[in-house]
Amino acid sequence: MGVIHEQKNHDRGSVCGNNKGLECIASDAGDSAWGIGAGQAASAVRSGAATDGRGNITGSSQGVGSVSGKKLSAKRVRASNGNPASAPSVHSEKMGPSGQKTGILKMKMKTLANAIQKGGQGKTMATCHLAFDGARRGLRVVVIDLDPQGNASYTLEAHASGLFASQMFDESPDLVPSFFADRDNTGITLIHNDDGLANIEKLELEDAATLLRTHVDALSEFFDVCLIDTPPFLSNVMASALLSADFVMSPVEMEPYSLQGMEKMVAVIQNLREANPALQFIGMLPNRYNVKIPRHVENMKILRDEYAELVMPFDIRQRDSIAEALGNQIPVWKVKKTAARDATKEVRVMTQYVFEKMEVIQ
Ligand SMILES: Nc1ncnc2c1ncn2[C@@H]1O[C@H](COP(=O)(O)OP(=O)(O)O)[C@@H](O)[C@H]1O
Ligand SMILES: [Mg+2]
Repeated sequence: MGVIHEQKNHDRGSVCGNNKGLECIASDAGDSAWGIGAGQAASAVRSGAATDGRGNITGSSQGVGSVSGKKLSAKRVRASNGNPASAPSVHSEKMGPSGQKTGILKMKMKTLANAIQKGGQGKTMATCHLAFDGARRGLRVVVIDLDPQGNASYTLEAHASGLFASQMFDESPDLVPSFFADRDNTGITLIHNDDGLANIEKLELEDAATLLRTHVDALSEFFDVCLIDTPPFLSNVMASALLSADFVMSPVEMEPYSLQGMEKMVAVIQNLREANPALQFIGMLPNRYNVKIPRHVENMKILRDEYAELVMPFDIRQRDSIAEALGNQIPVWKVKKTAARDATKEVRVMTQYVFEKMEVIQ
């Protein structure tokens, strides 16, 4: 696999494993050049962006700046300035059936990827709940399950469209209209994972990303929101998702290994933003947080102290009802247990926040 995520010339020995949390993101990014090394995916990313001759992707015309040599800051990741994706969109409010305001904004489809290079963090939890909540709000939501594990496809099985995720990398210009033009696209529409995703790794990243991006663009004629669930490792599939998305968010547990995964993810996002300057980082979502575990509390404090702007201003606790809901293919608010109430509140704070950041609701 390529090394889009790798940093050069620094000692990685002191990070994350000793409760220093994400200290490494800032200090390492400050001292090092985030390398785009050799490898299938890496070489394709390099060919798609300006490089400085050392294999590092350099600054773009969008004011994103070079990946190398600068400290990671909220502004650099969030890219709120000079970025077309963050400019206020011109859109009119959609009205509900009886003329009431729905709070939903009519605009071009927005695409969000849930990504972190670590399993078990809550990517699929967030993807599925955003889909359920989006549909509840009257949005037309399409979910592309790019994770070979297919957990989102399991939970959202009832909404399968018949289109499979690997087809989103086919050279077939009419694929999307031929599937969705004569179909009722209200609610959730699932583009199911499939074994063919393994073949995408044989493509050059640039080719894979171009194909996915073309089909995602075509989806915008039929949907309001596109959610992409990604695998827990860097691959053509994950990188293509980030190169096709407007937004990315990263659920993360307050555990050392998870924070290491987050560190790698931030490096990948920075590198890929050179090729997709429109990509905005919505933030890290602290998930499965347990206040009774001192390690969690300490890591959360470090995260919030050091990276306030990169962390969503709330958390989702470890809640059995969330796991139960996903296993039962329903959102947590449909779990009929008192214990599900707190989980519902937390999940809805997250969905509200993310949809507002995406400017699909007010
Ligand atoms: N806040 C939470 N509380 C309890 N269980 C959770 C929570 N978030 C996710 N889970 C469960 O943890 C596991 C991993 O979550 P998942 O969303 O599948 O992670 P990922 O997609 O990042 O691998 C799943 O079994 C899921 O149901
Ligand atoms: Mg998953």
